[in-house]
Amino acid sequence: MRKLAAGNWKMNGMAASLAEVKALLAAHPDPACEMLLCPPATLIAQAAWATKGSALKLGGQDCHPKASGAHTGDIAAAMLADAGASYVILGHSERRADHGETDALVLSKAQAAWAAGLSAVICVGETEAERDDARTLDVVGSQLAGSVPEGATGANTVIAYEPVWAIGTGRTPTLAEIAEVHAFLRNRLAARFGEEAAEMRLLYGGSVKPSNAAEIFAIGDVDGALVGGASLKAADFGAIVAALAAA
Ligand code: PGA
Repeated sequence: MRKLAAGNWKMNGMAASLAEVKALLAAHPDPACEMLLCPPATLIAQAAWATKGSALKLGGQDCHPKASGAHTGDIAAAMLADAGASYVILGHSERRADHGETDALVLSKAQAAWAAGLSAVICVGETEAERDDARTLDVVGSQLAGSVPEGATGANTVIAYEPVWAIGTGRTPTLAEIAEVHAFLRNRLAARFGEEAAEMRLLYGGSVKPSNAAEIFAIGDVDGALVGGASLKAADFGAIVAALAAA
């Protein structure tokens, strides 16, 4: 399995930000892990041209479940692929919260992503209240069951565990807490998909930064990271890529 360092720029980034992408590639032209950036959709095509032939993969941050049609403002998975994406993040907690996305909707988006040849990075994670109620495993287990379609493989699906309370806050779970959730997710995937579960990358996300990346990547079932804020700066994301490549 090739580990995956994924950056999620969220609603950040202008054409000038492509300088960060070029700086990242200049410092890490051929890392020993997969390197993915998910800029806003407006920048995917430009980033694809600017990085053509390089080791960097590009992804979208969402797609519509339908292939095309009368859905003003939405973006189809095939459009992301056409712009140069090979991945798409789905069911991020910000989309679940801001746009009321349900597990069933995320599942249908994953099917649309696969149909367009994209790999889906499907996000799950508990809120702080759910963790305080000791419901973390129930919550992520039911999100996983409801959001991941039949037919998931290591090639078409990546799972990102992102505790909502750790996103953008500088707070992270303990290493033992991350290990517990990742082992649980791997077991649930194995119960459903058998040996293929060992091929599915499980990313941790939520306040990953250069200073904590190495210890998180040392956890057994952590196969990479989904990085928000720290992916905006080439130096920080590059340090995280280097930590994963060395893990
Ligand atoms: P963060 O975001 O790294 O800024 O906490 C992670 C994410 O939302 O994917």
